[in-house]
Amino acid sequence: MTEQQGVVIRINGPAVFARGTSAMRMGDQVLVGEEGLTGEIIRQEGDVATIQVYEDTTGLRPGAPVVSTGEPLSVELGPGLLTSIYDGIQRPLGAIYARSGIYIGRGMRVSRLPRERRWRFVPVKAVGEVVAGGAILGLVEETGLIEHRVMVPPRMRGELVWVAGEGEYTVDEPIARVRGDSGVEEVVRLAQRWPVRVARPVVERLEAEVPLFTGQRVIDFFFTIARGGAAAIPGGFGTGKTVTQHQLAKWSDANVIVYIGCGERGNEMTQVLQDFPELKDPKSGRPLMERTVLIANTSNMPVTAREASIYTGITIAEYYRDMGYHVAVMADSTSRWAEALREISGRLEEMPAEEGYPAYLASRLAEFYERAGRVIVGSDGEAREGSVTVVGAVSPQGGDFSEPVTQHTRRYVRAFWALDKALASARHFPSINWSDSYSEYVQEVMGWWRDSVPGFDYVAMRREAMALLQEESKLQQVVKLVGADALPDRQRLILTTARLIKEGFLQQNAFHENDAYCTPEKQLRMMDVILHFHREASAAVEKGVPCARIMELEIIPAMIRMKTDYSCAEAERISKLKEEVTYVLRGLKT
Ligand SMILES: Nc1ncnc2c1ncn2[C@@H]1O[C@H](COP(=O)(O)OP(=O)(O)OP(=O)(O)O)[C@@H](O)[C@H]1O
Ligand SMILES: [Mg+2]
Repeated sequence: MTEQQGVVIRINGPAVFARGTSAMRMGDQVLVGEEGLTGEIIRQEGDVATIQVYEDTTGLRPGAPVVSTGEPLSVELGPGLLTSIYDGIQRPLGAIYARSGIYIGRGMRVSRLPRERRWRFVPVKAVGEVVAGGAILGLVEETGLIEHRVMVPPRMRGELVWVAGEGEYTVDEPIARVRGDSGVEEVVRLAQRWPVRVARPVVERLEAEVPLFTGQRVIDFFFTIARGGAAAIPGGFGTGKTVTQHQLAKWSDANVIVYIGCGERGNEMTQVLQDFPELKDPKSGRPLMERTVLIANTSNMPVTAREASIYTGITIAEYYRDMGYHVAVMADSTSRWAEALREISGRLEEMPAEEGYPAYLASRLAEFYERAGRVIVGSDGEAREGSVTVVGAVSPQGGDFSEPVTQHTRRYVRAFWALDKALASARHFPSINWSDSYSEYVQEVMGWWRDSVPGFDYVAMRREAMALLQEESKLQQVVKLVGADALPDRQRLILTTARLIKEGFLQQNAFHENDAYCTPEKQLRMMDVILHFHREASAAVEKGVPCARIMELEIIPAMIRMKTDYSCAEAERISKLKEEVTYVLRGLKT
């Protein structure tokens, strides 16, 4: 800790200006005032520092002291992160609530990780081995779902001169000592620290080639996201952003979830705080929190904490990635985060750019999304793969996607799931619009589909289904003018098949036992039946069978119901419908 002490000269909300800080560094974490409010130096000009304070500055006066902690704004990483609920600067909300009621006491020093708890540590390395950052020293069963791999902190390297035996240790007790080339020994504990604004190092970045499989048909089949990729869910009020992110948290094949909630209204976050701890991990039946870290910003917290929360969240995600896990980060909603940035920028008296947002909005969004990736981590001889996939919700005013946050986000994500007000009002859920959404990962995941569900040509099926949907939206323009009856039968059939795709395939009920999750096999078998129907029905229409007759067939509602009629385990039976389709359509008389 530096001894030098600065003095507050001016306060503008969370922005505090101090003099006498020349020995402190940009990015330093500082303690402000007698209460020791947590802040961060975000600008240094001569002898004057601008400090972003993460706590309420009411009552702070010029003349108050400023002391640097000598380290940048950091998170503490170690066992005990999972199941935790934190604020934006990693203060556990549980402990805070217990001590001060609903409001977070100012300057409150609360521990980021449980200090008293003892964790059973099982070493996997022996004295004498040479280790480097990322090497796994031992294992701790953090929760019933996740094994914590205790790693040598990044940048450390040397000979392991001591490692603790199997036993129970707190996060503060030494579990190993590493002697570097210079002969200096460094201690490793279960807990380590890392500055939130710096990406943790990786050995190599890999190309996307595996989807983050979500079990949500419109996403997996049409607008997939790769492991290590980034996606945005833009949508107006009430269009389904939160439900979609909850679905991904529950069902996607990520090992660990970091959920960053940036609520506008206080009660919105209260809902998350109530809902999340009750969610079950569907595959194991255990609480979802056992593989989740929740970061919650409520409206009564300072905007600065909201600004920090996405860095806190992504750093925690990288830490589990480094252990070799696949991590998914959900940020709901990044618009609230961008608003925090705008408000702070105003307090700093910076020149505003578009719609009052600071000019660096785009670069900050880039910094966040660029920390997604599928990577090789670990050290020599024990390289492993891990990934961080980022899904950010965007809530543009009035659902207008031309506003700056949506527009800039588009530049840094490769999957874009555009939620549609009209679909949501028609109770078509998920309300992901198939014309405005896109995924640039489709090419990359082709091989995965081929290997996962042999016997189906995913690429051809997707292309065919997409073409039908596109043709249908063109036809709808005509229908609006002249009505469907005026269309030739061939085109009316396209409307019918598109309806099957929309109601039978794209719509998916998050709350139905058989439908909440859909395996890759069930997805392809369902689509295969629909496309088979289209081919058989087209042939019938060609022969002169009136489309109206086809539209009355019982097989149509049966196909719409296949998502709920068959569980994933019964997926094979779905293909039986193909025989029925063939039989019924070939039997129709002209
Ligand atoms: N996949 C789904 N299945 C069934 N119902 C859904 C689905 N998605 C959304 N809904 C319905 O839409 C409602 C609103 O969804 P949600 O709260 O996710 O919207 P939002 O976009 O997050 O809203 P806000 O802008 O208020 O944050 C839900 O309460 C639910 O009734
Ligand atoms: Mg929401």
